[in-house]
Amino acid sequence: MSLCKQNFASASEEAINYQISQELQASQVYLSLASWADSSNQGFPGLQQFFKKSAEEEREHAQKLIEYQNRRGGRVVLQTLQAPEMDWNSPQNAIEATLQLEKDVNKSLLNLHKVADESNDSQLTDFIASVYLPEQVDGIKKIADLLTQLNRVGGDGLGLYLWDQELLKQYS
Ligand SMILES: [Fe+2]
Repeated sequence: MSLCKQNFASASEEAINYQISQELQASQVYLSLASWADSSNQGFPGLQQFFKKSAEEEREHAQKLIEYQNRRGGRVVLQTLQAPEMDWNSPQNAIEATLQLEKDVNKSLLNLHKVADESNDSQLTDFIASVYLPEQVDGIKKIADLLTQLNRVGGDGLGLYLWDQELLKQYS
């Protein structure tokens, strides 16, 4: 047993490993989205930047959880990642998929918080509630705004071009 382990349930340890795999899978999906947006058939530099940054952020989320797991004396177990969809069809479809992805990640974060709470692990509930949950809620709002704005401009022509240019300004 790890020397630093105290009040750390195996259910929490497993839930952290599951969350690490969710963050890495999200990063994998964002890499695919960024590659799709950058392909010459699509040509959305703003979307590419947004997805690329998101892929980096998800990887950082996983990294932070890996370090947390070690800090608590848990054992990090990495899982096999799934191959993501590679053809995202349209910016609307891509952003809708992103929104669902972030909601799924949020659901598993909330579950991790619940597991920690059931084990009276206030250190872990505090870590998740202070570091992860606020960022997740903000991220979901941001993506929902993007989808609303995209639907407002009609999703093609000049409106779509300007929407993408706006993303490029924000994320490059
Ligand atoms: Fe994340």
